[in-house]
Amino acid sequence: MIAVTGATGNVGGQLVSLLTAAGERVTALSRQTAEPPQGVRHVQADLDDPTSLKGAFDGVRALFLLVAGEDPQAILDAARDAGVRRVVLLSSQGAGTRPHVYRHPAAFEEAVRGSGLEWTILRPGGFHSNAYAWAESVRAARTAAAPFGDIGLPTIDPADIAEVASTALREDGHAGRTYELTGPALTTPRERAAALGAALGEPVRFIEQTRQEARTQMLRFMPEPVVEGTLAILGEPTDAEQKVSPDVERILGRAPRSFADWAGRNVAAFA
Ligand SMILES: NC(=O)c1ccc[n+]([C@@H]2O[C@H](COP(=O)([O-])OP(=O)(O)OC[C@H]3O[C@@H](n4cnc5c(N)ncnc54)[C@H](OP(=O)(O)O)[C@@H]3O)[C@@H](O)[C@H]2O)c1
Repeated sequence: MIAVTGATGNVGGQLVSLLTAAGERVTALSRQTAEPPQGVRHVQADLDDPTSLKGAFDGVRALFLLVAGEDPQAILDAARDAGVRRVVLLSSQGAGTRPHVYRHPAAFEEAVRGSGLEWTILRPGGFHSNAYAWAESVRAARTAAAPFGDIGLPTIDPADIAEVASTALREDGHAGRTYELTGPALTTPRERAAALGAALGEPVRFIEQTRQEARTQMLRFMPEPVVEGTLAILGEPTDAEQKVSPDVERILGRAPRSFADWAGRNVAAFA
């Protein structure tokens, strides 16, 4: 049995589908009561409250762990005590490039490395699916607003992260490895808006926000240090943050999927 935290999310949802399609038995964890896909065991649990994990890992041998909650040690202890042997952590590129800002994923990485479990760490950069933030304005007015319109980053398809996670959970040879996960090429926010327009068959007008406008908007759903770190990556990325990583292709044996491909598959959300 494989347990998937964040099972309602962009990565976790696709991971549950991939694992069940591969014939694995799956426990899907989420905070809400949810109707799981057929054949999937659902457990309602909050990583912020490790006592809610009691029984969640019974019969589980591998765990896909999200960075959530304040006590990674307690989560990993609960997993190990229940007999879990392998953990795949969905961390973040920032844990490597800006560990003093991305303290939360960095702390989870440290706990996972010291857990005594067989571990693999995934460090994705920004997701293609962050473009869902444009869904409402694209539907209403065919506009997309973002700061730093001409700065490129190698964003990644969450479906590729899910496929890498599925591989690391099911197959041997990934223990003790930290993978940097990116898409196939740098794209700028302006180019991503244009790709959405191409998928829709109608132009999407790009609106360049000031740093302050973006900051105000992001503070509505992110804590301040993460907002500052995210703005720094979007506006002044380091060489490491702009590097296209070979890891997805090495693990999956095919190139990662482009933003245009993601836009084509998810165009219904913007129509
Ligand atoms: N988006 C990016 O650019 C990016 C880049 C690098 C790394 N990441 C990492 O990737 C993770 C997943 O991203 P995503 O796009 O798949 O996010 P998402 O679609 O928003 O999904 C987040 C998931 O986290 C679960 N969750 C949140 N807090 C939880 C808690 N306390 N206990 C249990 N579950 C909790 C939510 O489940 P319920 O609400 O159903 O419980 C949801 O399934 C992010 O959390 C972040 O750490 C994201």
